[in-house]
Amino acid sequence: MDKNLKNDLENIDILLEKVKNNAFDFLKNINDIVAFPESTNVYTPSELNKNGLGGENTLEEFMQRFYKGIVSSAGSKYFGFVTGGTTPAALMGDWLASTFDQNATGRDDSSAARIEEEAISLLKQLFGLPEIFSGTFVTGATMANFVGLAIGRQWVADELGIDISLEGIYSIPPIKIVSATPHSSILKALSMLGMGRKNMHSIPTIDGREAVDIEALENYLKQLNGEPCIVVANAGTVNTVDFDDLKQIGELKKKYKFFFHVDGAFGGFASCSTKYKKLVEGMEEADSITIDAHKWLNVPYDSAMQFTKHPKLQLQVFQNNAVYLGELSDKPDFVHLVPENSRRLRALPAWFTLKAYGQDGYEEIIERNCDLAQLLSEKIEKSKNFRLLSTTRLNVVCFTVNFGEHKVTLENIQQFLNLVNKDGRAFFTQTIYKGTPGIRAAISNWRTEEKDIEIAWEVLNKAYNIYVKTIIAID
Ligand SMILES: Cc1ncc(COP(=O)(O)O)c(C=O)c1O
Repeated sequence: MDKNLKNDLENIDILLEKVKNNAFDFLKNINDIVAFPESTNVYTPSELNKNGLGGENTLEEFMQRFYKGIVSSAGSKYFGFVTGGTTPAALMGDWLASTFDQNATGRDDSSAARIEEEAISLLKQLFGLPEIFSGTFVTGATMANFVGLAIGRQWVADELGIDISLEGIYSIPPIKIVSATPHSSILKALSMLGMGRKNMHSIPTIDGREAVDIEALENYLKQLNGEPCIVVANAGTVNTVDFDDLKQIGELKKKYKFFFHVDGAFGGFASCSTKYKKLVEGMEEADSITIDAHKWLNVPYDSAMQFTKHPKLQLQVFQNNAVYLGELSDKPDFVHLVPENSRRLRALPAWFTLKAYGQDGYEEIIERNCDLAQLLSEKIEKSKNFRLLSTTRLNVVCFTVNFGEHKVTLENIQQFLNLVNKDGRAFFTQTIYKGTPGIRAAISNWRTEEKDIEIAWEVLNKAYNIYVKTIIAID
């Protein structure tokens, strides 16, 4: 055995203790760690060592060279994108998942599959999804959308009497796929599936909203004259967290032939709150559903769930037959259901956090985050410096900056956010909503409390006072 490997093996307890201390230090100070790095261009690339450094020296080098660039994206004031943190129990599960290093691919090779099945069952209870749904873990909502649309593609072809997994995409005419405000990952999935980004047909939204106009959707479906298609419904759009009326889309399914996919990457979590579950009424009518775990479940990257009522079609798409992988059974191994063959035990962090905090714990996180989004919205409504671009429905506040007569440009927003994020205490990301450049604050972290909103508000206003002078100078 290599001498460094041997030494590390003999001292694994000391090494892990050091790592634990570093990790604990990070967690203890997370509120003081910057949410945005000063610069990521300060690293001189290092060469591969001939002899290796051993674990302890490698940890030291890592801490010296890269640690200052590690940001508090898992902290309480990181409002960019839709970013969850990691609950203590999720971290426990994640550490063990790496330690055990199980290949969660077969049903009977270890207890890995039982853990995944149980985590999926707990999640179905959390989201109020009926038993008929099966589910699998994938790496993120983009992959969950990919799997859902792959099953949808298989369903449409099946309706035409073709097994597209065998015959290929060229064996049928282009599949019609429609949505009102799809997430960019839906278009990416269409590209990966050979269905083409350009083949997404856009259905109008209700006036002033991002939710689909049901009448326009019905008119589109009617003129297809029975041709099967895919409808992508959105349960939580990124800018305004708007929800398509899933119940009404479910009703349309009784009259028209379509595969009903719901992208509820973070909006799906509305279902675990008594206050907000109405927003996703009808989600159970879907053929497939995407929900992210590394967003509002607050487990570490990379983790999401894909639920479906069509496991047989899923099997047709993703089966990976080989003698060494064993026979296909009635309950196929996960290797036959998802894009990955070998898989990390990513169900374990989810299982830990669900067991540790239960239904009440998640309802509390969701509702607290939403209350805080309301608090920030109220501050914006009362402020002269900022203006809401939309009603705050759930956990995302979409707003812009007021510069008097000066019309805000995307460049202004970028420059302004640069100032805000450089402060280091809070982090926001840009957007454009209905033509107006703006800012999104997505509150999705279990740690976030009222004091964090107060600090973020101070950061925004401080940056405003600095930036407004630049704007005045421009005009
Ligand atoms: C509605 C929606 N769908 C899909 C995604 C893609 O998620 P991921 O980054 O986990 O692939 C996101 C990410 O923000 C999202 O908000």
